[in-house]
Amino acid sequence: MKAFKSSKKTDINPHSERDAAETVQTDFSRLIERRDFLAGASALGLAGLLAGLGAPGLAAGQGRTGSRGGALSELFRPVSANTRDTVTVPRGYDWEVLVRWGDPLWSDAAQFDPRAGLPDAEAQLRCFGDQCDGMKLFSGAGGEVVLAINHEFYHPAGVYAATGGEPGSGADIRRGMLAMGVSVVEIARRGRSWRVVPDSRHSRRITPETPMDISGPLRGHALLRTEADPEGARSLGTVNNCGSGRTPWGTYLTCEENFDGFFSESASGRLTPEQLRYGAGANDWGFRWARIDERFDVDRHPNEANRLGYVVEIDPLDADSVPRKLTALGRLKHENAEVVIARNGRLVAYMGDDERGEYLYRYVSDGVYDPGAGAANRALLDAGALYAAKFSDDGSGEWLALTPETTGMDRAALCVHTRLGASKVSATTMDRPEWVAAHPDGDQVLCCLTNNKNRGRSDKRNRGGDAMPVNGPNPRTENHYGQIVRWRPAGGDHTAPGFAWDLFAVAGNPEVHWDDYAGSEHITGRNMFNSPDGLAFDRQGRLWIGTDGATSDEGDFKGMGNNQVLVGDVRTGEIQRFLTGPKGAEITGMEWSPDGRTMFIGIQHPEGRFPDGRGSIPRSSVISVWRKDGGVIG
Ligand code: FEO
Ligand code: CA
Ligand code: CA
Ligand code: CA
Repeated sequence: MKAFKSSKKTDINPHSERDAAETVQTDFSRLIERRDFLAGASALGLAGLLAGLGAPGLAAGQGRTGSRGGALSELFRPVSANTRDTVTVPRGYDWEVLVRWGDPLWSDAAQFDPRAGLPDAEAQLRCFGDQCDGMKLFSGAGGEVVLAINHEFYHPAGVYAATGGEPGSGADIRRGMLAMGVSVVEIARRGRSWRVVPDSRHSRRITPETPMDISGPLRGHALLRTEADPEGARSLGTVNNCGSGRTPWGTYLTCEENFDGFFSESASGRLTPEQLRYGAGANDWGFRWARIDERFDVDRHPNEANRLGYVVEIDPLDADSVPRKLTALGRLKHENAEVVIARNGRLVAYMGDDERGEYLYRYVSDGVYDPGAGAANRALLDAGALYAAKFSDDGSGEWLALTPETTGMDRAALCVHTRLGASKVSATTMDRPEWVAAHPDGDQVLCCLTNNKNRGRSDKRNRGGDAMPVNGPNPRTENHYGQIVRWRPAGGDHTAPGFAWDLFAVAGNPEVHWDDYAGSEHITGRNMFNSPDGLAFDRQGRLWIGTDGATSDEGDFKGMGNNQVLVGDVRTGEIQRFLTGPKGAEITGMEWSPDGRTMFIGIQHPEGRFPDGRGSIPRSSVISVWRKDGGVIG
């Protein structure tokens, strides 16, 4: 989440030409040289030098696999950067809104007022939530198509439009609260596009008040017990639902990110180092939940925040099912959870912790996936090992096990204070790990490192966190553009301790900079972008990138326009701009229909009049995009 502050001038990186001249030979330059070396080494048959890591060579273009759908340039004509207050797609494509904040999921829901939103909390409970983010699509036994969609937070300017952007009462606060969580909606084809099916037996709103089971090692643990739940077994609700994931047995994973933003202190100054490391402070981020529900007062109920910050499993095809908080996967500011089944059958989840200088994680199940066992495989998410990534500057990397032996923390403490464990093993501080995506062929995994204005600044670090010197995968000081790191598991084994890594793309602006801030070799004036965030492979093995960056179109960001969707070819390194979003909006979830002929894309926190135009407040929306010739899009 990066609400309300995307284009502030103060966020702009003030690199002058003089600064650039002084930083001409940085670690990043050396990495590019190294990549050239590896390309040459591979051509000379020297790739075997890397065989110990199972790395076939790291250069873009040297991978064993890539996209299977032909060259990007033959697929669509790129869209130009722009600052229009609408969605722009390539010639030959079309789009429409599938569902917006406030659209009814049941036909008895209250009407949305285009100037004032929804009247009350009960109305919001019957309607699609705000700030749509990660989403996944599921197919039911009867052929029905169901989308599960996260609602990361709510935008006061929209939800409280009628009261000047501020909650006017406790009832208003609860109405906002219930705009968060998850929506489950059934959708059906309508011509080339899709519509929401109201009153579906699958329709569901999951909110910060929905009962959830605490599952895994922390179930019943003292750190999770509260006055309202002395057993530490059942918590209320999920918050700040950011990226998502899907299990092979057809359940949805929703990831709790900035949960600290909803807590405040009634008596300041009592916070422990553990609480501080997870962002607790005297004040919340303006949501004021503690006024209507004292469990969000961190002084009165200090364990309540220990019940948030997890990956949560939801069965999207059973509206009566109880969601499960998966404590074995650790407590972070979770971005998404990319699940793969390793060759040896173990379930692996790759997970980013999106805060400056935090870490990239891997979970490996103790048990082995049984394709015939269906939901019985759920136990794989309750017992396993956690690792944090260490990237070495020579292009190798290692998953560092978080165990009592390596950290001095017991297993429960490692699940609830996972960040502290990663610090103990000296994992690599990252430039805000956002979505992770694994190639469908299993040979490579990528993660968006969105930006980090504090990288390389010795005076700045996350509270209680570690120093953030420039390092291999995070090669630039005051990194306002971001990069996408890629790793190849040793021997193609996602459970292996080692990997080889490179930077798939380093974002930058070659129109403004000629140094490292111009970006890597495939970044040009025609495809430049900043702050990669969403990341997903389609079935053809093409990499789709959504951005959440500065949209000022000025200074360092001149010519980049609004946030956008790009498509990358992991074989060639080529990147093309596919879509641009409306003013101020971030691009969030990306998903495809079962036939691959429709793509669903999240448009979060638009700031103009999207999508309803004049006379309406802006509304976060999921849009459908399709080819006019009916062809496959991804
Ligand atoms: Fe919710 Fe890190 O984006
Ligand atoms: Ca966001
Ligand atoms: Ca994100
Ligand atoms: Ca982001």
